[in-house]
Amino acid sequence: MMNTRVSLKWLLAAAAALVLGAAQARTVDEIKKDGKIVVATEGQFAPFNYFKGTTLTGFEVELAEAVVAKMGVKLEWKALGFDALLAGLRQDRWDLVIASHGITDERAKAVTFAEPHYCSGGVIVSKSAAIKSAKDLTGKVVSVQTGTTYLDNVKKLAGVKEVKNFPQDTDARGALLTGRVDAWVTDRFVAKQQLDANPGSGLLMGDFLFIERIAAAVTKGNSGLAAEWNKALAAVMADGSYAALSKKWFNEDIRCK
Ligand code: ARG
Repeated sequence: MMNTRVSLKWLLAAAAALVLGAAQARTVDEIKKDGKIVVATEGQFAPFNYFKGTTLTGFEVELAEAVVAKMGVKLEWKALGFDALLAGLRQDRWDLVIASHGITDERAKAVTFAEPHYCSGGVIVSKSAAIKSAKDLTGKVVSVQTGTTYLDNVKKLAGVKEVKNFPQDTDARGALLTGRVDAWVTDRFVAKQQLDANPGSGLLMGDFLFIERIAAAVTKGNSGLAAEWNKALAAVMADGSYAALSKKWFNEDIRCK
């Protein structure tokens, strides 16, 4: 009797915790009524999302601001570690994430992706002209950011000696600059900007290791919000504002073709 009572009590508490923990994602209507969407990004991935002093900026930051303006709501930014971003969607801590996430089957099990807002891929960066392609990574030490598609794709290469991962991409880059690794795998446009900004760094850009489509994400199943974002993104892509932003940040149009 006593045992049954205790377990019943425990069961009820556990059920309540489950209900409270699994907060419901906000619908478009709720967001519109509130007048504000909460968007999370990392802020350490220039030129896509980064801090210039204390100001969050970058292509994705300005693009999200343009898209959200079309949706007719205000935008509140949150900046967090890359690893926390998709996990926080499930806890309803923000409505949408935009942080250069590649669309993968694995991630698509956990979140709902919007339409891609650019196409790119992971490139090999090194200080040696002899390290250019995937086969050149055999026997080499490679740095990547934790939780990224760069890590997944380098791990697939059988011959790599060691993969060192870092919570931030900037630290993965630092490892290459200081000679602790032989190569760094990062986004093509991130690499390009680094090379352009620091011509004396000795960094060389090699081949694409893989290509990917990059998209914002919402809580799994919040298709109403994804649809609203997609509609506004399509409008920004059609009215010339996407082209202008892309030209400003990359001097080319990086939308998926
Ligand atoms: N595109 C890569 C991925 O999908 C890297 C994204 C890194 N983003 C960032 N904000 N650090 O995993």
